[in-house]
Amino acid sequence: PLNVGIVGATGAVGKEIVGVLEKRSFPVANLRIFGSERSAGKNVETKFGSVTVELFSEDAARECDVVFLAVDGDFSLAHAENICAGNDGAVVIDNSSAFRYKEGIPLVVPEINAEATKGKKLIANPNCTTAIGLMAVWPLHKLFGLKKMVMSTYQAASGAGQPGMDELMEGTRSVLSGERAVAENKIFAHPLPFNVIPHIDKFQDNGYTKEEMKVTWETRKICGLPDDFPVSCTAVRIPTSRAHSESIVALFDKPVDIAAARKALEEAPGVKLVDDIDNLKYPMPLTATGQYDVEVGRLRKNIAFDNALEFFVVGDQLLRGAALNAVVVAEAMVE
Ligand code: HSE
Repeated sequence: PLNVGIVGATGAVGKEIVGVLEKRSFPVANLRIFGSERSAGKNVETKFGSVTVELFSEDAARECDVVFLAVDGDFSLAHAENICAGNDGAVVIDNSSAFRYKEGIPLVVPEINAEATKGKKLIANPNCTTAIGLMAVWPLHKLFGLKKMVMSTYQAASGAGQPGMDELMEGTRSVLSGERAVAENKIFAHPLPFNVIPHIDKFQDNGYTKEEMKVTWETRKICGLPDDFPVSCTAVRIPTSRAHSESIVALFDKPVDIAAARKALEEAPGVKLVDDIDNLKYPMPLTATGQYDVEVGRLRKNIAFDNALEFFVVGDQLLRGAALNAVVVAEAMVE
């Protein structure tokens, strides 16, 4: 059994990490929760007992075997490497984007590249959108050889953390109650209730947003594809709670076969094929929320391109997109 530490356990992702550790049989001997001066001293009730939040220090975190960082990138940049340095440092799984693009630091979706963790102490957990989409794309890539990919996303408020979820709920209530004609916004660039916003994270020089480029950069790194591999994304925020949806057009080297694609998706770990149009069954945020598996459906041959498939993927972005992925990475490393 291991000493496990979490920094940021009261945030949207941190809470889910505690929940996933509780539900899976992760061998926790002692759970330690580290926080700022503001949260130190508070108690968090967990299956592993009541845990008093300790003031974070690198030395205290280094006493753990595994540390999950569910904090912002600046915190990770300042502390992650010190927590894992040396033979007696902890294994660190970082949920921010601070280390995702650094050479020598693995970016891992365990069902795809668990072997990248070998001999490493600091692992980057991917962007949620990318992790969810690649769960479906990877088995198809193995079968037909991915050539190009275009993704359109429909991303939930939880991608902006608990404050994003609160802004959606509170804003929706204020409009429905007649208190306001249009909801207020602080977290999102525009009011999210009764709206969709084609803008997530900062705009880049090439006209894409950082969220969109994360899909490009991270797909290449996780799947071991060349640095110029063509992946394009439009990322859109929609007023759902915590499951991200993605429409994906994937072009392949080899001719595609629907029956073979369905079989590969049915057999892929972490994937649930939900694709029965006669009974109106397809992936949706309502059904994917709270689930570990990513739902994949609406699978069809794309009629605009040769050797191309088009499909719809939905995954709980706090679970597969963050907490579950982090815990499965840790499981792969301590096995
Ligand atoms: N950046 C994502 C979003 C969150 O805003 O939906 C998880 O990477």
